[in-house]
Amino acid sequence: MQDKIVFTGMRPTGKLHLGHYLGVIENMVKLQDEYRCYYFIADWHALTTKYDKTEGLKQDVIDVATDWLASGISPEKATIYVQSLIPETAELHIYLSMITPQNWVERDPNLKDMAKILRSKEGFASQINYGLMGYPVLMTADILSFNADYVPVGIDQVAHVELTRDIARRFNNIYKTDFFKETQPLLNNCALICGLDGNKMGKSFNNDIKISDSEEATAKKVMSAITDRSRLRKDDPGHPDECEVAFKYWKIFADTEEVNKIRCECEKGERGCADCKRQLGCKINERFKEIREKRKYYEAHPETVEKILREGSEKARVEAQKVLKEVRQLVRMF
Ligand code: TRP
Repeated sequence: MQDKIVFTGMRPTGKLHLGHYLGVIENMVKLQDEYRCYYFIADWHALTTKYDKTEGLKQDVIDVATDWLASGISPEKATIYVQSLIPETAELHIYLSMITPQNWVERDPNLKDMAKILRSKEGFASQINYGLMGYPVLMTADILSFNADYVPVGIDQVAHVELTRDIARRFNNIYKTDFFKETQPLLNNCALICGLDGNKMGKSFNNDIKISDSEEATAKKVMSAITDRSRLRKDDPGHPDECEVAFKYWKIFADTEEVNKIRCECEKGERGCADCKRQLGCKINERFKEIREKRKYYEAHPETVEKILREGSEKARVEAQKVLKEVRQLVRMF
């Protein structure tokens, strides 16, 4: 067990899909055995775009935590918390916002994308608010509230972790200290699994398989996966490398030997796409069997999930308080 701190979080987007599981969560489960880990749910960040749709927010937080716990993230190993239960992060956000040049947040590539999406919407949620501009500064405050060493994130978030380093360095310069560490990103395999239609897997694209899906729903979704478009009959020779989804999934879920066997059978026309996808559905269901059983337990006990989040948040808060005490002294606050 290393003394280094690993820190990461997710926005509460509701029930998670296999892209989240394979790209992020599996990694979080591994890291909790090796480092001091803090995993949190960023409910303030959800408000940057969904401030006018908060009725489902609490349930979305519970849903993410339920998927985490089912997947094997353990409150005994990692500290799991809810962002808004740590007011110290909001305070740190204030100090950091005072020293962050405006053009550092304006050049954020994610903000530019988000602005495009928002502009295409109608109504008052279509503008960029002050809080959304500050998204990466708040993220910096999350990370620096625990003075983390490593932040596992997807490629789209790496720019934010770089900004975290820039802000930390600026803080250290201004207040003549070496208090904040230079946090490093740890890259996740975010694009590992595509959606059922071959595009990026995402909840809003309606092409995802959820951790929480039933076996029947999973089997049905897998049957809709795109295969080799040039293949008309099941005994036509197939082209696994042109199979748009199913063969890619096999490469993720089966071992090399099985993948080679499937390739041979497909190329010889001995394996129809429907049969292939039926087997694939079973394979995926097998992989998630235990996780889904565990998930049923937590789903039936949301009060247990909430208790874990509240206790984790209390523990996390004690650590953030230590950091903030130091920061307040460095900034020479009253
Ligand atoms: N921005 C991240 C996302 O959308 C969530 C997040 C907020 C985060 N604060 C963080 C991730 C701090 C890592 C560290 O996925």
